[in-house]
Parts: sequence; C-alpha cells; structure tokens
Amino acid sequence: MAPTVVVSATNSWDITDFVVNQGHGVKGLSEMKLPSLPKHFIQPPEERIDASKVVCEECIPVIDMAGLDDPKVAELICDAAEKWGFFQVVNHGVPIGVLEDVKEATHRFFALPGEEKKKYSKENSNSNSVRFGTSFTPQAEKSLEWKDYLSLFYVSEDEASALWPSVCKDQALEYMKRSELVIRQLLDVLMRRLNVKEIDEKKESLLMGSMRINLNYYPICPNPELTVGVGRHSDVSTLTVLLQDDIGGLYVKGVHDTWVHVPPIRGSLVINIGDALQIMSNGRYKSVEHRVIANGSSNRVSVPIFVNPRPSEVIGPLPELLEGGEEPLYKQVLYSDYVKHFFRKAHDGKNTVEFAKI
Ligand code: OGA
Ligand code: NI
Repeated sequence: MAPTVVVSATNSWDITDFVVNQGHGVKGLSEMKLPSLPKHFIQPPEERIDASKVVCEECIPVIDMAGLDDPKVAELICDAAEKWGFFQVVNHGVPIGVLEDVKEATHRFFALPGEEKKKYSKENSNSNSVRFGTSFTPQAEKSLEWKDYLSLFYVSEDEASALWPSVCKDQALEYMKRSELVIRQLLDVLMRRLNVKEIDEKKESLLMGSMRINLNYYPICPNPELTVGVGRHSDVSTLTVLLQDDIGGLYVKGVHDTWVHVPPIRGSLVINIGDALQIMSNGRYKSVEHRVIANGSSNRVSVPIFVNPRPSEVIGPLPELLEGGEEPLYKQVLYSDYVKHFFRKAHDGKNTVEFAKI
C-alpha cells in the first residue's frame, strides 16, 4: 500500500528516513509516483552512464555448457574469464522452473508491507545472515543508489529454514542448491588453467567456502538518467552467478572505457569473476567493473549468488602459480578483512582490490 505523505511538503519530509530507516526502500518512493527524482539520488555526471561510451558491436561470450566435455568449451570459459571477466552460460543444468520460481519469490518478498520488510533491516534483524536494505552503504554514500535488496548469507540449511523470510526461503535455497554443480564445473575448469589439478577440501574452503544470495529490486524510477541502480563496482566474490529478468540494464566495462550491455537471455545465467579470484589467480582472471542503470518504465529484479572464500581463509596468489615462478602481485589477506574494507565505503569501481596489492 502506498504510504500517505504530502509530496508538496518534501522540504520538511525526511526522505532518507523514509527510505532507509522506515523500511519503505526506494520501492516505497517509486510507488508514490513523484514527479521528479529527489536530490538524494542524483549522481554526479561522471557516475551516470554516458550513451557515447556504450558499444553495441561487442558482446560478452555466451557459452553452451552442454559441451563441457569438449576441451574447446573449457578454453572458451577460461578465455572469457581472462578477457572479459564476464560471460553467460546456457544449458547449465539449473532447471528453468527453479529460476522462474526465485524471480517470483523476489517479487513476493518486495511486495510485503514496509513494516514486514523492516523486520530484516540492520537494526531489527535477529541475525547477521539476513539483511534487508536499500542502496549500498547509505551512511557512506554522497548519493544514494536506486535499489532495494534482501541479502541472505548461507550458514546451514537449518539456519536458513529458521531465519530466512518464509515467502522466499524455499525458492532461494533451491536455486542455490541447484547451482552448485555448475559452480563446481566452472571452478574446476578455471583451476585447471592455473595448474590446480583438483579442488580438494582446502581449495573448496578457499574458493567456495561461503555463499551469499541477494534478491535485488530496482523499482521504476522518475528521471532514471540522473541516477544509477548500482554504481560502478567489482564483486568481492570468487565468482558470481547472476540471474536477471528480461528488463536489462546491466553494463560491463569493456576496453578503452567503453560499456557493454549484458542482454537478457531467457534461461541463461551471467557469470562473473570476483576480486577474490583475480587475487588468487595473480591477476590472470579479471574481476571487471559493472553497473546497473535505473529504469523509467519497469520494475527489475536480479538474483546473484556470490560464491565466496570462507571468511576465515587467507587469500593470495595460489601456490601453484608462485611455484611456477610467477612474481606475486597481491599480498596474503584475511578474506573477512577484505570484505569489511569493501563494505566500509561507497561503490568506487575497482578500488577495493588496491587493498590487496603489493
Ligand atoms: C551485484 C550486481 C547486477 C544486477 O549485485 O553485485 O552487480 O544486474 N548486480 O543486478
Ligand atoms: Ni556486482
């Protein structure tokens, strides 16, 4: 239900409080159908996407996982991870119904009243594993981002069953479980090029020792050209598996400061390399900047699974690379320190990775 607030009194009305603290999120603001974007969300021009920098001739690779036994497919995956840091996969083995269900569950969660969603906010959530929020780090940002999210950290099936919101937990868990095989297959292939022959227990903890799933909601925005859905950033994951709906709006940085759109393909998953794998691969695989534009006519959802090192792991260039004589470009850092550094500041492109540079 749209909250009753007198729009003409916007000067005396605390928008940040309404959006950030009261649990309405930008969805609440969107539903008020404001005639123009509140100043809180206006991004500086350099953070908005510049149409002259968008290239349409190039596209990130689309890889058919059905041919995984063919060494050529493995080569395509590793090449894409080196060149683009981004690719899409089709025939990945996650049933389309599972993908549809989790998108629907995302809409269901965000359709809950603010009061209900607020129970999962930083202040009210009874667990660190469940977090409803808006923008990225509102307390550190000069301009807010036009996005609400529910972030679910996976600890165990029992914990998820007990704590994740009931309108979406089964679907989120199913999507996560069904994605595990393709995640393993991708990591196997990527590791082989780095001279890592198998993912044993130690490597498993290092590469995929923790998982986080986010349900993202980008509501219809007045003046979408003045703001962003998500600002320029790279992910801190090992890799990210992203499900997007058919609206579009995700852009990836290409060569010479250009931006490339990731077109929605029904049934596909977008895979991107995160900072942790860039560091562990000693810079061979690239964690590439990306961002999401806001949309003036449709509500968009996306559901990324962040496949992360276990927080207690120390990450750095893999011994298999250093034994081969490579000079390390990165230090050994405690992964939880790296993540803390990321969440302390606003989105700032690729700067987080400086934290680990030698
Ligand atoms: C993210 C992200 C892209 C999208 O959540 O890190 O980049 O399309 N999302 O929502
Ligand atoms: Ni991202």
